[in-house]
Amino acid sequence: MAHASQLAAPGDFVTHDLTGVPLLIVRGDDGALAGFLNVCRHRGTRVEGAACGKGKKGFVCPYHAWSYGRDGRLLAMTHAHGFEGVERESRGLVRVPVTEAGGLVWARASRATSRADEELDAALGPLADDLLGFGIGSSHVYAPRTFERSMSWKLAMDVFLETYHLRPTHKNTIYEMFFDNLGLVDRVGPHLRNLFPKRSIVELAKEPDAIVGGALRKHANILFHLFPNTLVLVQPDHAAVISAWPIAIDRVRMHAYTLVPEPPLSEKARAYWDANNAILYGATDEDFAMGESIQRGLASGANEEIVFGAFEHALAHFHGEVARRVG
Ligand code: FES
Ligand SMILES: [Fe+2]
Repeated sequence: MAHASQLAAPGDFVTHDLTGVPLLIVRGDDGALAGFLNVCRHRGTRVEGAACGKGKKGFVCPYHAWSYGRDGRLLAMTHAHGFEGVERESRGLVRVPVTEAGGLVWARASRATSRADEELDAALGPLADDLLGFGIGSSHVYAPRTFERSMSWKLAMDVFLETYHLRPTHKNTIYEMFFDNLGLVDRVGPHLRNLFPKRSIVELAKEPDAIVGGALRKHANILFHLFPNTLVLVQPDHAAVISAWPIAIDRVRMHAYTLVPEPPLSEKARAYWDANNAILYGATDEDFAMGESIQRGLASGANEEIVFGAFEHALAHFHGEVARRVG
């Protein structure tokens, strides 16, 4: 839903609609996050219209101005004498599960239950600590962007999950930094932890063991696929977060942002991160061009099934997990 820094203080909020259900996530006075269906309990209008905001005291429905607190309680019904017998206490915003893990904010687009809350808390498993270890929680959001492509959201995930394509697809761009078809994949529950070594990693052979672990992010791209639709790409001094949201079977909207250690205040700092982003989004453009090509190819009917080779087992894991859950 967001990076934790976007919801730092009480009353900071984000809304989110790409699950198909209007959601509102707010930092409460107690410092904890609360998640709600962003739906008025009078007649169902979307309550908060802004994408995000800071220090908001409460939320007022635009239709008849019922007002809700940061904690979701219904504070007032306009001309309340017309609602005799309606209990304010039972008309608060409906809660959804929300949690912070690995420096990111997660929610589910369905009514909260104690079981759903627990499942969400446990959803990242050990990867929550991995992300914190890479400083994801203490970073700042830079250069957020939204873009759409003509492909399934699953194809938008696939292009990140193997290095078999690296040499042919990225021949004139990032291939020179990496090896041909070389990567490590750990399956962590439904998720994937990938490590794509850079050619420079051979230099670590000369280093004492003590520094090798800390130097890993300098000599490899470390990519977390957080099931189902989020990627966190850890780079030497920053990270990128990309999430993919289906808006049709063959159309995806993506949200992406860069996580940097400090808010970039100078022109020089911004130019540095912009140059990094140009490399990343240049490479992902090459990937997404392949994804859109595959989408058109699928529609042709040429392939009744597609075939994953041994180097593509992470994709098989991802699609198996989707198929199992969708049933
Ligand atoms: S629908 Fe929200 S106040 Fe009427
Ligand atoms: Fe790629």
